[in-house]
Amino acid sequence: MTISGTQLAKEIKQEVKEKVEKAKDEFGRPPHLVVILVGEDPASQSYVKGKGKDAEEVGFKSTTIVKPEETTEKELLELIHDLNDDESVDGILVQLPLPSHINEDKVIETIHQSKDVDGFHPANVAALWQKRPCIYPCTPKGVIKLLDKAGVEIQGKKAVVIGRSNIVGLPVSKLLLDRNATVTIAHSKTKDLAKTAAEADILVVAIGKPKFVSADMVKPGAAVIDVGVNRDPITGKLCGDVDFDACAEKAGVITPVPGGVGPMTRACLMENTLECFLNKMQKK
Ligand code: GUN
Repeated sequence: MTISGTQLAKEIKQEVKEKVEKAKDEFGRPPHLVVILVGEDPASQSYVKGKGKDAEEVGFKSTTIVKPEETTEKELLELIHDLNDDESVDGILVQLPLPSHINEDKVIETIHQSKDVDGFHPANVAALWQKRPCIYPCTPKGVIKLLDKAGVEIQGKKAVVIGRSNIVGLPVSKLLLDRNATVTIAHSKTKDLAKTAAEADILVVAIGKPKFVSADMVKPGAAVIDVGVNRDPITGKLCGDVDFDACAEKAGVITPVPGGVGPMTRACLMENTLECFLNKMQKK
């Protein structure tokens, strides 16, 4: 069975939209999300466009700031400081990756924690790993919601996550662990990766290699979550890290690319922005 991220994302955005309507009555304005893009990477341009579109759809005020590739680190940090100080801004997202002359870690830690809708700030990451209240990073949060929606039991199951990035692999592993799965974090240097993957009841793949997971790596009946977004080197079409056609026959449930995790990441970004807004307004 295919799990549609597009459908679940639509439901989540509808819920956010209804809450935004109420929040507008109570606080006099909708949440305001600012998305910053540096440079002209086509994939990043498309992600940023999607985020802006979803923000408008749920009734947020949405601002997209596009800066040229040559923008200096100092200029970007100054922009973030201004947005941190701006009372009318509730969420700040800087699209990654950044040009190589800008230190991403510095940028991430400059965004004020209360406006960190991505959940990337080191203090937020620490809170996540220490099970304290935090903003759940968008993609890992979306993965768990997809598993829940598909009725996949997580507790007591063997989960294998292929990939160990700060954005996906590590936090998704932590969220699965918190739901009492037994988690193996695998990666490109894992010996017998195919054998490890084939033992998984839940297989999450975020390795960034087109069609990396073949049918022999999938346990019959497993839940397969594909976080990859790649171009098929032969057809040029969008494809995931999982060979969908081959694996769909073996998996119990599987996410497509496009239409799986991608729309969920954006829906969770909308939830996080509303959460940052409400935290701020309710403190006043
Ligand atoms: N680049 C790839 N994924 C993400 C994400 O979730 N947030 C940001 N800011 N950049 C990304």
